[in-house]
Amino acid sequence: MSAAATTTHTLKLKGEVPLDKEIESLIRSGEARQSSHNASNYESAIYGPDPEGLKLLPAGTRIRLEESGVDISKGYPERPDINKIPIFLDEAFAIRNEEYPYVERGKNADPEKKALFAACTDVIDLTKHVGTELVGVQLADLNNQQRDELALLIAERIVVVFKDQKLSPQKQLELGEYWGQVERHPQTIQVPGLPGITTVWVDYRRKNGLNVNFKNVDLGNWNPRYDRAAATGMHTDLVHEKQPSGITSLHHDSAPDVGGDTLFYSGYAAYDKLSEEFKKFLDGKKAVYCSAHGYLDRNDPFGGPKKIERIHPLVRTHPATGWKFLFVNRQMTKRILGVSPVESDIILKYLFEIYEKNADIQARVRWGPIKLGYGTTAIWDNRVSQHRTTWDHEGKSKNSRHATRVTALAELPYFDPNSKSQREALGLPLDE
Ligand SMILES: [Fe+2]
Repeated sequence: MSAAATTTHTLKLKGEVPLDKEIESLIRSGEARQSSHNASNYESAIYGPDPEGLKLLPAGTRIRLEESGVDISKGYPERPDINKIPIFLDEAFAIRNEEYPYVERGKNADPEKKALFAACTDVIDLTKHVGTELVGVQLADLNNQQRDELALLIAERIVVVFKDQKLSPQKQLELGEYWGQVERHPQTIQVPGLPGITTVWVDYRRKNGLNVNFKNVDLGNWNPRYDRAAATGMHTDLVHEKQPSGITSLHHDSAPDVGGDTLFYSGYAAYDKLSEEFKKFLDGKKAVYCSAHGYLDRNDPFGGPKKIERIHPLVRTHPATGWKFLFVNRQMTKRILGVSPVESDIILKYLFEIYEKNADIQARVRWGPIKLGYGTTAIWDNRVSQHRTTWDHEGKSKNSRHATRVTALAELPYFDPNSKSQREALGLPLDE
């Protein structure tokens, strides 16, 4: 432990000032963050564009940002403003706690996707059940009809990949806004001047204290109480939202030639791996889902950070495909309602493993090699999937893995008892 981390502060109550306000002013003053600077809060120790980040910036990222007119003269990436980060659980829970309208773009799209496929020179499935690559088409050039068809294709295939893309951060944001309300994350590093475009850059985070190495990188897949360092733990993004994430794009403008792949797992297929009797038991059940970040309870500020919790259906229906899917992940699904805690733990353990242990329901997306000035984009549906990254390059590649992410939030989750599973809808056998 560093000397700074052992620094203690004495909280003095000044007259009538409540304790939570004292804690808030201490945190916002930066003192507390400076004294406990570690992997979990490295991003918020200092805020604004980071001049130090420019020294690490990969060549391909610089070309993309400069071509797009993004101002990086003061630094990169933009670190979140300490004054805008929620500290207490109640204020974090209040963010987007009202239902808002959502238009499912894939719902009325041409099931044959003729306009989209006509623009491609090739359509390649990555595996039987998950993943498709569209070749010879630029995402930036798609019209609304093609975007609708792509939304349906993503809903069906979980993830769709595009290589050799010229995609500016602004265009990536525009696409996200077409597919839903874009989440603007208050706690992540971002592209300067473009809130809603999150920077995914593990090498930068390591420089700032993220503890990830060959030995510890995958531990979160055994138990979420171990660090899910660098997103190598299987998860789904933003399940604690009232309307959790839907279509999400990740554009890599720099990546190792080999290594750093991302894996995607199908929630439709995970559901179809269950026996018909067990499906009936799970249909209609609800579960508690928690946030990745923790916040202080105003009434118990010394009780340690607590997660936002939200209740959603355990089996959901996708509004575009109409197919049922298993909505769980080891990191964030906490307990099933209506059964005992022991039963919930046993059932959830089995459901996590259904996702994790079946190799025929996942696809692995390779980002590199990337031509300088171009990039690889994957767009996936966070509702019907889990994902994780790999860190086999160990940060030693000459091309740093750098990407930007845009997440569109989707509908209020629901379960339609009349909806079908994927295999049922496609006429595939259910009992073998
Ligand atoms: Fe993620």
